[in-house]
Amino acid sequence: MNNQLTWLDKAIFYEIYPQSFYDTNADGIGDINGITQKLDYIRELGCTAIWLNPCFRSPFGDAGYDVEDYYTVAPRYGTNEDLVTLFREAHKRDMHVLLDLVPGHTAVTHRWFKESMKAEKNVYTDRYIWTDSVWEEPRGMGCIRGISERDGSCAVNFFSHQPSLNYGFYRPDPDCKWQQPMDAEGPLATREALKDIMRFWLKAGCDGFRVDMAGSLVKNDEESKGTIALWQDIRRFLDGEFPGAALVSEWGEPDKSLVGGFHMDFLLHFGPSHYNDLLRCDEPYFSRRGRGSAREFVAAYRENYEKVGGRGLICIPSGNHDMDRLARRLDPAEMKLVFAFLLSMPGAPFIYYGDEIGMRYVENLVSVEGGYGRTGSRSPMQWNKGLNAGFSSAPEEKLYIPLDDSEDRPNAESQCADICSLRSEVKRLIAFRQKHPALQSRGSITFLQDGYPLVYERACASQRIRVVINPSGEEAAVSDTGGTILYKVGNAAEIKGDSLYVAGGTAVFVEA
Ligand code: GLC
Ligand code: CA
Repeated sequence: MNNQLTWLDKAIFYEIYPQSFYDTNADGIGDINGITQKLDYIRELGCTAIWLNPCFRSPFGDAGYDVEDYYTVAPRYGTNEDLVTLFREAHKRDMHVLLDLVPGHTAVTHRWFKESMKAEKNVYTDRYIWTDSVWEEPRGMGCIRGISERDGSCAVNFFSHQPSLNYGFYRPDPDCKWQQPMDAEGPLATREALKDIMRFWLKAGCDGFRVDMAGSLVKNDEESKGTIALWQDIRRFLDGEFPGAALVSEWGEPDKSLVGGFHMDFLLHFGPSHYNDLLRCDEPYFSRRGRGSAREFVAAYRENYEKVGGRGLICIPSGNHDMDRLARRLDPAEMKLVFAFLLSMPGAPFIYYGDEIGMRYVENLVSVEGGYGRTGSRSPMQWNKGLNAGFSSAPEEKLYIPLDDSEDRPNAESQCADICSLRSEVKRLIAFRQKHPALQSRGSITFLQDGYPLVYERACASQRIRVVINPSGEEAAVSDTGGTILYKVGNAAEIKGDSLYVAGGTAVFVEA
């Protein structure tokens, strides 16, 4: 089983979309040095780790999730040396950095793909999944065809410019000779190439990886048995060479990913998690209208939790570069309760840059680099009230994505100075979590109520904390909840006898 990394148990992650964080050379785009310069801001908030979105050479048809060279930092972000400096400066502050590993596909401009398109057989011929004829499409997958000398169609993994790397088929279809088994030469070589990339960056000082579409690697693999076996092999390699390397998966099925050797998995905003019921639907549970429901979320969470034997290593993000900003549906008071929830759940919490100040989704933007509807959640970080919100000193029209142009757009500097701000609340909640082991990654969780209020108990050997969150506008009473109120967010809460009274818009932490 996965060796335990103690830093991960207490980790609070901050996700950085490098192009939009901080621009130090006035070209309108964020850079690695900008992240290094802002490490103290992140640390001061209480975050102990960073997940950095892809920062490698790329044609940027999917914002860098189309990698052209896994070994080189994209010049627009700086150099490999800059990235190594970021690792070093993070470590000095007792912080850790996960890079984003995209193992499922590359850009069409990757040298491997260019070689793979050639008619003549070479070492990259089987690096991607190709059929034997341009007229035969790989069933169930999109494809690229008609642009290669080679006679064949190449399967794609996401956008149609992201060809699928070939890790083989769990059950190759005997009628499709081009489907190779996992242990064929080509798939094994792809796997070794992936290990090489990991080795390179771990040697350079990164602490591990967030793995993009981690469950997508082996094809014809309904139960994911092949993909799990592949990750177990990678975990063995890491345990041998880099036992401290952390792996967090974008998979959403912890019963598979944790068996595969990942330390933690993400709760996804699509699929069966019902996460969006809480934050991103017409009547989110966290709205004070009180018309939402947490029921299906709790049921799905519980099911996953039980499947992994109560190892609640399911990371819940405040948002990310693929989903709407929290502030699209919720106001700052409502978001404070969201953070009370996120920061008291098992698994490592992930805060998407700018969510700590309630940055808004910027409406009606033209898609940038394959962002489409996601573009509005990727706008530049708002640092202060200065030029371009302190993000960059480039002329406004040169910014990578337009800024939120509302006059009252939130900014970090003002919120740091205001003890009532969302950011100040997030900071206090992080500090509160870090003082109470029951609330951290490995504490157990038992849900007691899933209406208004939401009630759950977090526990570890030394402590039991009941969390009561009442986003609705109405006061609620919870029986059987005596003890000491350790912390409160929002309005009012009071214990009378054996009952707890929680005003609308309030979250309370009670120690039994
Ligand atoms: C993941 C990334 C997303 C990207 C996709 C393809 O879901 O988070 O941004 O577009 O994978 O790599
Ligand atoms: Ca720059």
